[in-house]
Parts: sequence; structure tokens; C-alpha cells
Amino acid sequence: MEKVTPKERLKRLLGPRLMSWYNRVRLRLQVPRIFLSDYRRYRRHSAYFHRETPSARELEITVLYHSLEKGFLHEGGDLRLRFGRAKVARLLQLLQAWREEGLPESSQIIAAQAILSAYYSYHREREADISDYFPDSAYSALAHHSTRRAVEVLPEEARHGDFATFAPSRHSIRRFSDRPVPDELLREVVRLANTAPSACNRQEVRVHSVSDPAIAREILDLQGGFRSESEGIRQLLLVTADLAFTYMEGMDRQQPYIDGGIYLMNLLYALHYHGVGACAGNASLLPRDEARILSLAGCRESEALIAIVPIGFPAMPILTTPSRRRPPEETLLG
Ligand SMILES: Cc1cc2nc3c(=O)[nH]c(=O)nc-3n(C[C@H](O)[C@H](O)[C@H](O)COP(=O)(O)O)c2cc1C
Repeated sequence: MEKVTPKERLKRLLGPRLMSWYNRVRLRLQVPRIFLSDYRRYRRHSAYFHRETPSARELEITVLYHSLEKGFLHEGGDLRLRFGRAKVARLLQLLQAWREEGLPESSQIIAAQAILSAYYSYHREREADISDYFPDSAYSALAHHSTRRAVEVLPEEARHGDFATFAPSRHSIRRFSDRPVPDELLREVVRLANTAPSACNRQEVRVHSVSDPAIAREILDLQGGFRSESEGIRQLLLVTADLAFTYMEGMDRQQPYIDGGIYLMNLLYALHYHGVGACAGNASLLPRDEARILSLAGCRESEALIAIVPIGFPAMPILTTPSRRRPPEETLLG
């Protein structure tokens, strides 16, 4: 006897027109459920709601040590002694708890200890007293891993080598010379970046060039991730994804962000290939600030911000953060 699935039975019962109406309604009703399930997942797993898990604590450690690394980019410029002391104190506290609980010394814990050691030595060399928040005993308790405070990038470093040389030669650049990046060069950069793949080749990503320093400044003030560099930043690229290209009900809701992230990486490589320095900037914004930024850059209302990317020709010497990477064993699982 022929086996009839429940779906097939319903189709026979309703006929093609009613069935298509039924499907539309069913999928439409899925949309709020899918968004609600996003929220539930975020609520259940995000570090924001679960600050005491090892992952959340490792994340806090990473964010804090990265901020100290960024501080050291100002060495030789406006770096103040005792900078970031609240962050140092918190890092020491987090690392002490980490050690006491016998948690594993991952690459990010090593990176944090290394930059703290560098911080301690930097102040010692300058005979600056930091004992009120970084006592000698805390220094002795650190496992001593050496690191450079900032990494100097060679101007022509392997820009045109094969991928295995090219990819690690890209670094975030946050200080730029006064020379503007010409429009023709940006067009070539975007031509190359447009080789990025996207789901169904929908290509919903847009790049808005902001070359008015006053507007760039206003955008960066709202974004907040380049507080100590924003004065020297004159040009930005805003990477957006147009949500008008999300077409498959709720299931498609994140595709523009995924395509946007893939595009962003290709754009960073394309900029690097053409000798333009850049640093991705996060779009972790309140909706009203995101809307303001999008309107300042003349974007359509349907565009969602993926990243704000300061660009320019690098200022010499080209300095970047060590930003230690996880080894494959921490990333490739199973
Ligand atoms: C999506 C994204 C957002 C970022 N946001 C900022 C930011 O707001 N400010 C900043 O100085 N760096 C930002 N960065 C740069 C990271 O700190 C940097 O990529 C990381 O430390 C690795 O260093 P590298 O790019 O030199 O390899 C961001 C990077 C990404 C990918």
C-alpha cells in the first residue's frame, strides 16, 4: 500500500491554493518564535548573563589585556604612566582566581600574563610606583611569558606573498598619515573585496565611504572603540548589509550578518593588499546610535551596520598589538 506522509495528506485535503496559503501563514507565524528562540539562547549562554563561567571569565581577561595592549601603542607618544590601573587590578584578580581554581592556562591566559609582565617591567624601568594596584607579590605569582609591548609592522611586509605569508602579514592599523586614500584606489579595493562569497550570491553588502573628517569624528564618538586614536582618523568605510535582501522568513534572519562578516574579512585583505591600513571597528551599538551613524553616512534605513572601518595610509612607525592567537588545538575540536 502507498505510504502517505501527514504533509501529503494535508496537501490532498486542502488542494494546492489553500496549501500554499497555509504554508505562508505557518512560516509567517514562525518568525516571532525564531526571534524569541534567539533571545532565549542569548539569555541561556551569553557571557553577559553568565559572568562566572570559565568562558565568560576568559573573555573578560581577553578584553582587558587587549585594552592594555592598545595602550602600549601610544608608547613614545601620549602614554601616561600608571595607565589602565583599574583594568590591571581587575586582571590580576581574575588571574589569581583562575590559578586558584586550577583552570587551564590557555593561550589567552598566557597572553594576559605576558602583557602584565611587560606592564610591570615598563613601570619598573621608569621607576614609577604601581605598588598600590600591582604589588611585587602579584608580579611574582604570574607565570612569566615574554611579549613585546607593541609589534612593529614592516611597511612592505609580505603584502604580495602567497596566502600563508599574506594572511599573517595583515594587522589592525589604528594610526594614519595625513595622505588621503584616493577614490580610484578605493574602487580597486572594493572590486577585490567583492569577490567575497554570499548566500545564493545575493551580495547584499554595501560599503559607504566617509571622507569628511568631521562626520568621521562624529561617527567614531558614537562608536566608542577608538577613543584614543579618533583624532588622527580622517576616513572611514562603513560596511553594511541590506536587510531588504533577507527573503526566507525567520530562518534567513542572520544571513546578512554572516555575509557581512565574510565580506568584512575580504575587505580587510583587499585594503592590506593595496597598502591601505585599516582596523575593523565593532558595531555593538544601541539601535538609536546605529541609526544615527547610518544616517550620517547616508545609508538606507534597511541597512544594518556590520562594521566601521577606519582607513588610511599607515603612520610610521607602524605599530600594532601582539593579539596572540589561539593555537589550532583550542579551535579545532572533535
Ligand atoms: C568585528 C571587529 C570589531 C573590532 N572592533 C574594534 C574596535 O572597536 N576598536 C579597536 O581598536 N579594534 C577593534 N577590532 C580590532 C581587533 O582588536 C583586532 O582585530 C584583534 O586584536 C586582532 O588583531 P589584528 O587585527 O591586528 O590581527 C575589531 C575587530 C573586529 C574583527
